[in-house]
Amino acid sequence: TTFHSFLRALPKCEHHIHLEGSLEPELLFELAAKNNIVLPVSEDPAFESVNSLKSRYEQFKNLDDFLGYYYIGMSALVDLSDFESLAFTYFSKAASQGVRHAEVFFDPQAHTSRGIELATLVQGFKRAQARAEAELGITTELIMCLLRHLPVPEAIETLKQATDAGYFADSTLVGMGLDSSELPFPPPIWTDLYAEAKKAGIRRTIHAGEEGPAEYMTQALDILDAQRIDHGLRIFEDDALVSRIAKSKTLLTMCPLSNVRLRCIDSIKDFPLRKLLDAGIRFSINSDDPAYFGGYILENYCALQEVFNLSVAEWGGIAKGAVMGSWCADQRKFELL
Ligand code: ADE
Ligand code: ZN
Repeated sequence: TTFHSFLRALPKCEHHIHLEGSLEPELLFELAAKNNIVLPVSEDPAFESVNSLKSRYEQFKNLDDFLGYYYIGMSALVDLSDFESLAFTYFSKAASQGVRHAEVFFDPQAHTSRGIELATLVQGFKRAQARAEAELGITTELIMCLLRHLPVPEAIETLKQATDAGYFADSTLVGMGLDSSELPFPPPIWTDLYAEAKKAGIRRTIHAGEEGPAEYMTQALDILDAQRIDHGLRIFEDDALVSRIAKSKTLLTMCPLSNVRLRCIDSIKDFPLRKLLDAGIRFSINSDDPAYFGGYILENYCALQEVFNLSVAEWGGIAKGAVMGSWCADQRKFELL
């Protein structure tokens, strides 16, 4: 349709994509074979083939059900070249869909806990970033996410490791986030981690209001001083929070296809797109874990357009908000606008 080509051509920024969540089943099996990683096929027949795994991905019950597959899948990543391939494959796909700037998450603890050095993944990603800029003409930034299902001291230690390596000082990393299982691990648990990050001048985002209530978003702002919120789907449970986030122009990085696949909403019709626009909230549309949720950024934009039929001007406003909410230099924002 005409809107498909319009939305592809629209210069887009992506702010909520987990690189490990862009690991397509084909590459997962290829890397597992190369690295002699045995997938738990005897415990779960979904790991028998690419096709059985893809069918299973269409039936996630909730966030934790997905996360089980996500952490097993990424265990196929071992070498620096695996991380480079993963990231460059995503950057290529994103560029082909009209992404001009991407700020991507990765989960260092999911790899260091398997004995892989932080520097291995970071150097692999950096090679992919340099190639993406040179060969694809897109800019990319890395955001390190800590895992909320692991103990707080381990997150603090990982932050320290990245800081000591100079990754924030030299802008290898542009910020810190927090992801994984949400409901049992509310924001107040992470007070010390976020205080450390703030003290060190590190930008802070957090997954909140995905499965958890709006209260977790308020806590993220009040207690953690988060500067961006990933998802924030449940914001409309709290009118005061809506006004506050609109006023502060805090970016919400929304992921509609993810929300449907993880059953946070029944269908795209229930995604609060109209309410976000009406409330004047700054938000971006993102893919989250595209290899698992049936679409990259363009499929997310198109799924919304099919249901909500936005105008060209409305899409222009969304794209502009995404640029303004980016964590890149002002100079780059001017180029993107
Ligand atoms: N890790 C990867 N994707 C995630 C999501 N949607 N929510 C929480 N943690 C995640
Ligand atoms: Zn996410």
